[in-house]
This record gives sequence, C-alpha cells and structure tokens, in this order.
Amino acid sequence: MTNKTTNTGLIDGFYNNLLGPLLRVDDGFDAEKVTKIALTGLAHMSLRRNWVGIANILELLSNDLQRNDVRLEQSLFGCRFKNPVGLAAGFDKDGVASGLWHCFGFGFAELGTVTFHKQEGNPRPRLFRLAEEQAALNRMGFNNDGAAIMRRTLESQSLPLPGDRAAVLGINLGKSRVTPLDMASEDYAASLELLAKFADYVVINVSSPNTPGLRSLQSSTSLKVLVDRLRKFEICPPLLVKIAPDLTNQSIDDLARFASEISLAGVIAVNTSLDRFGLEKRVLAQSGRTLAEEPGGLSGVPIRCRATEVIRRLRAIAGPKLPLIGVGGIDSPQTAWQRIVAGASLVQVYTGWIFRGPQLVPGILEGLLEQLDRHGFDNISDAVGTEVPWIGRE
Ligand SMILES: Cc1cc2nc3c(=O)[nH]c(=O)nc-3n(C[C@H](O)[C@H](O)[C@H](O)COP(=O)(O)O)c2cc1C
Repeated sequence: MTNKTTNTGLIDGFYNNLLGPLLRVDDGFDAEKVTKIALTGLAHMSLRRNWVGIANILELLSNDLQRNDVRLEQSLFGCRFKNPVGLAAGFDKDGVASGLWHCFGFGFAELGTVTFHKQEGNPRPRLFRLAEEQAALNRMGFNNDGAAIMRRTLESQSLPLPGDRAAVLGINLGKSRVTPLDMASEDYAASLELLAKFADYVVINVSSPNTPGLRSLQSSTSLKVLVDRLRKFEICPPLLVKIAPDLTNQSIDDLARFASEISLAGVIAVNTSLDRFGLEKRVLAQSGRTLAEEPGGLSGVPIRCRATEVIRRLRAIAGPKLPLIGVGGIDSPQTAWQRIVAGASLVQVYTGWIFRGPQLVPGILEGLLEQLDRHGFDNISDAVGTEVPWIGRE
C-alpha cells in the first residue's frame, strides 16, 4: 500500500522560497558552501536523530518525502531496496548524514567517494552551476576526510547493521591521488579493509575525470586485478563498478561482457563527462571562461541522453542478470522511467536533486507507481529493460 501521508509542505516551502531561488542561478550562491552548510546541519541531526525534538522533525520530513509501496521494493545483489531511487555519490562524501537519507525518501544512498588518504581536492573554484542547462561542472578531485575518519564517523552514527537499514548504504571507493596507478589495488584494498563492515555494497570508482590516470583502470585487465584483490577479504560486500560516459561503445560492450564473466554485483553508469555536448562556448558566470576551457566533469541534463544510451548498451550485452544503476540527468518521473525501461534496476540523482529540490524523490516514486498501474506491472522490476513508453501526461 502506498503510504502517502499529508504533505506538510515543510521542505517544499523552505526549498522553493529560500534555497531553490539561490541555487537556480549560475552565480547566486557558492554551491560548495551551501552544500557544506547543509551537510553540517544534517550531520548534527543524523548523530542526534533519537533526540525527541530532532526525531519529530525527521518524522515530519519522512511523512513529507517517503512513499512506501511494496511494488517499489526489490532485492538486488543481496540488498533489500525499499524503492529504486538513490542519492548518487559525491554529496555525502564522508558519510556524515548516513543515518537519515531514508527520511528524504531515498531507497539508498551512496557515500563517498572516499580515498584511503585524506585529501583536500583541487583548488577552488571547482564547482560551477549552469542553471539554464540544469547542469553542473565539477573538478572537486575527491576531497574527503579519508577512510579512517569515515570509519569513525560511521561508528559514531550507530547505524543498524547492513541488511537492516531503512535505506541501503553503498560506499564508493576511489584511489588516493598520492598513490601511483600501479599501486591502486592496494589503496582500494586498504580503504575496503576499514569500511567493509559498514557497507551494504561497495563501488569501485574508476571513472572520475578529476584524478589523473584513474579512468585507465576501467580496462578489463586492471579491473580484474582490482576485483581479485578486494575479493580476498573475508568480509567483502557486493562489488559494483562505476563507469564513465566517455568510454567508447566498444569499451562499454567489453565491460558488460567482463562484468558478467567475473560476476560483478552490478555496474553504475555513469559518472560525469569530459564531453561538452555542444556547450563548448557556454561562458561560466563565476570564471568568465568557456566550458571548453574549464576542466572538469559535466553532469545534469546535457549528459542524460548518453547516460541512457550507456545503460541500454550494457543491458543489451549483459542481459537481465547483471544489475545496473542508472545515473546522469535524471530530474523527473519520466526521465527515471526512461532509464528503468532502458535497463536500470535502480536510479540515482545528484544534479537534478539540487535544482529540483527534495520533492523530486517523492515525485519520481509517485510517477513510477502510476506507470506500473498504467502498464499493469506488479513490481518495478517487471519494467526493467522492457523499453515500454511513458504513458500519459508529460
Ligand atoms: C559536485 C559533484 C561531486 C561528485 N562527486 C562524485 C564522487 O565523489 N564520486 C562519484 O562516483 N561521483 C561523483 N559525482 C558524480 C555523480 O555521482 C553522478 O554520477 C553524476 O553527477 C551524474 O548524475 P547527475 O547528472 O544526476 O548529477 C559528483 C557529481 C557532482 C555534481
């Protein structure tokens, strides 16, 4: 049954009247600072989520944003997902708000990217909004507190054990910048050793464009070394790989075959793009330079088409047995549905969530339920890879 409770408008009002207008312009507000302030607040709430006042606020939030319905539930790679919409990696890099992502309606959240060594990331400015295009350009460079601090943070959160959580928690691992590429597997392994017991699933991130050489680890040979190394641990959560949209179609097909061959738990497609999708001449308000001149990865609406194409290719080659997580430019029920029918069992949002606000998640979930009704599907998993169209209002 759908648990559609009264919409308190708590979040709606805050986002639409205060935060949203500031985020919907290119240079209104420093996006990184806003994220940091928001995360600091959420971190305090997550740590104290059982305190009466905070628990009451979180209950209001949950009533506002959660849509619980058995038709949205799926079991994939040993994890039980309450719904197919997740928070993409890069927002909660250190896991500080890991105890409350379910209150925002998410079925899962991917923490990280975390690297073994704490690192500052690239110099600022390193995050740019393109409001008109509903896009962002970032070259954060894996700024994070490092795996040991994340472990302490997760310990302090007193989270339920993996498998027992309101939202599934993935941990996305990256290579430390100081670690040479030929030592990458040891670097990932050192992070996994610290964090394995906290993760419902782990993502090997080999697709960020902002760590020199990282994307070369997407080759089958390098991936095999990495996966074999990580699987040596006694506790090894399900392993997924996150890939770039800029791989050639041939490489995507090879990766799909390889992922099936070595029984990866799944593939996440896609990370941000080095392509500028016709926006090369777009001038960034913050820097006065064009998108062609500014280094970094593009996200949001411009990468949507390619992201869907990558999911479709992976599905065509790997078939239904390999779970896929679709991410890139999803900002509505329609775009989430398109990704699912192209082959994604789960979807994630980042840029769309920033521009559209927290109501995006319940909006997507309601839209998906409506489509299940219209197509006569019993469960969201029945829609995956069917390529059936969106029926009804656009
Ligand atoms: C500011 C920012 C930081 C990101 N950081 C990470 C990261 O640390 N690790 C990662 O795997 N992806 C990271 N991503 C990529 C997102 O997880 C996602 O794959 C990409 O943005 C496409 O989705 P979207 O169009 O919904 O934003 C980041 C994206 C943005 C915009």
